[in-house]
Amino acid sequence: MTEQLNKTAQINKSVAKLPESQIRQIMELGRNIEGVIPFWFGEGDEPTPEFIKQAAVQALHDDKTFYVPNNGVPELRQAIAEYMSALYGRQLGEDRITVSTSGMHGIMLAYQTILDPGDKVVIIGPIWPNTVHAAEVLGARTEIVALREVNGEWKIDLEALFAALGNGAKALFINSPNNPTGWMAERGELEAIFAFCRQHGIWMVSDDVYARLVYDGRTLAPSVVELAEPDDRVIIINSFSKSWNMTGWRLGWLTAPPDLLLSLAKLTEYNIAGPATFVQHAGIVALREGEAHVARSRAAFEERRDLVYRRLSALNRIGMVKPKGAFYAFFSVEGETDSLALTKRLLHDAGVGLAPGTAFGDVGEGYLRLCFAASSALLNEAIDRLERVLG
Ligand SMILES: Cc1ncc(COP(=O)(O)O)c(C=O)c1O
Repeated sequence: MTEQLNKTAQINKSVAKLPESQIRQIMELGRNIEGVIPFWFGEGDEPTPEFIKQAAVQALHDDKTFYVPNNGVPELRQAIAEYMSALYGRQLGEDRITVSTSGMHGIMLAYQTILDPGDKVVIIGPIWPNTVHAAEVLGARTEIVALREVNGEWKIDLEALFAALGNGAKALFINSPNNPTGWMAERGELEAIFAFCRQHGIWMVSDDVYARLVYDGRTLAPSVVELAEPDDRVIIINSFSKSWNMTGWRLGWLTAPPDLLLSLAKLTEYNIAGPATFVQHAGIVALREGEAHVARSRAAFEERRDLVYRRLSALNRIGMVKPKGAFYAFFSVEGETDSLALTKRLLHDAGVGLAPGTAFGDVGEGYLRLCFAASSALLNEAIDRLERVLG
């Protein structure tokens, strides 16, 4: 009887086990408090550029409102292949490109393509939690290999990574530049990781959604795209969300070996049958005409990173590594060991909404994340408030 009434007992076991997002928890608490400065989510504060919006309007006028092939509108796939080829200086064919309904959907498609229940995925963390839970929804096991702060920099311990991978991993998930730490894998590290994965037949899923948001004189993060041959077990995830201010549009793409194209088309069909057609047409314009916008955003985010780093690291109790990419400050507060409790306290006492480090896995305990994709005025106000409470 109880069994019958307890409907949640009947649902998929992996789904029933999924934890609630701590970032959403904070957002739910914070949105009811007047005057809170919300820095919990990871998105820019500016709307989509006008030329991209106009492209979507034009596409609607041109009746781009019908079903299209599951791997995406051919002209968008061509634009993506040209964009990737120009960016990384090597020829990439359209036969490697599948359009997805966002980076998140790209991650899910990649996992669905390669993972069976029980497979082990090694993930470099702290990490945006969706990348872990998406694997767990599919019944895969996840193991986090932690980045460590060494001499004021985030570092990957390659020995620990290879030990975890060598112990029966089917896939590696790597996000560089990383959300939340701003860590960026250097070319030499990527070469070593790629060589290990190739030698052991391990899939590499590389989340490159922040590839263009890098600082200190760089314009592009090193990527395994530069190393992999078309038939290597490598899937790259990209998104229009961060560099083109298109978070709400839900548009991204995967770069994969050509022989995955049909599997990705079938999975797209059974998930969601692809992003809206007129949105895909706007994506073509974003890629072909968006370079000036991407360069402006990168420069603006760098200024804000510098401001946040300068001000936060001047506070006595705060320790922070200068992020090399993405748009997050990930910092620790001396004497604080419960990130979630501290985040709640700051919400109430300082009126600033941050994300607790534990939202990015146990390895994030002791840290807080602030998304600095906001105006300098708002960042200064938030840091003034933090300073008053954290002193
Ligand atoms: C590391 C990482 N990957 C992927 C995404 C997905 O972005 P979207 O689904 O908006 O493309 C995000 C968003 O915050 C992210 O931080």
